[in-house]
Amino acid sequence: MHGMHARLPRHFVLEERLERYADAIELEPRRYAGRWSEACTPLGGSGEERPFGSVRLDLGCGKGAFVVEAARRNPDVLYVAMDSEPLCIAYTAQHVMEAGLHNVVVVPGLGSLVHRAFGPGEVDCIHLNFPTPFPRKKEADKRLVALERLLEYRTVLAPEGTVRLRTDSQPLRDFTLTQLRIAGYEVVWSSDDERSDLPDEPTSEYEQRLTSQGAKVYGLWATPRELIGPPVQTASLSLVDYLPEDLFASGYVPHGMDGAITNLRNRRAHGR
Ligand SMILES: C[S@@+](CC[C@H](N)C(=O)[O-])C[C@H]1O[C@@H](n2cnc3c(N)ncnc32)[C@H](O)[C@@H]1O
Repeated sequence: MHGMHARLPRHFVLEERLERYADAIELEPRRYAGRWSEACTPLGGSGEERPFGSVRLDLGCGKGAFVVEAARRNPDVLYVAMDSEPLCIAYTAQHVMEAGLHNVVVVPGLGSLVHRAFGPGEVDCIHLNFPTPFPRKKEADKRLVALERLLEYRTVLAPEGTVRLRTDSQPLRDFTLTQLRIAGYEVVWSSDDERSDLPDEPTSEYEQRLTSQGAKVYGLWATPRELIGPPVQTASLSLVDYLPEDLFASGYVPHGMDGAITNLRNRRAHGR
């Protein structure tokens, strides 16, 4: 798991875990593109089956705390939980099965798979909870909020569907705003303190961990609008360029930015 020390607990054998919780894992998501809701309906097993009313994607789901709670509260919604880390897939699948949920499918894969794993307009909401910031310019294309990804999400989002970002990082939030604008999205809701504004939203592991260290949660929801002209990348790609002038002098440093901030502070000190 990026940025989180992914040390395996003693006696944890990843392959064995993946096998044990395989019923919650789908290795070939492309088979379901365009028919997730119908195809997954029998998972309910209640005898009065009806297709799910909505499909939501938790992209970069981590160990699954958010998706498990969201799915528990919304039994009519099918949640697809995707992550690139097998360890996260194993934990999320375990938590889904232990919670007895039949409306979550766990999918291993990168965000670049999204536009092939779903049909046009199939997804109502893409949750991006505390996505890995990848602060350096040369890694900018790995961000789940990069222009190319946002253009791909457009193809699978339903009309009025939303991308919902939550992050502790003002630089990542501000970078995301540039990418949303270029990718033709309208920001329909935003907050500089989402936990206060939406106190009942389920929390994720990272939210719990980072808010306990003093983080505020920036939230924004955006929906695709008409794309006028070909999208051209004009934004600065290093998150360093989105740092505040005082480098968070008096408070919380966003996850993943410590190195960049230490470097800048040292450079400024040497320059003086
Ligand atoms: C900082 S963690 C946040 C996890 C979880 N959403 C939370 O809030 O606790 C970021 C997660 O995104 C996953 N991730 C990073 N890049 C990804 C990508 N390109 N595609 C899918 N998952 C990715 C990582 O493996 C990690 O689990």
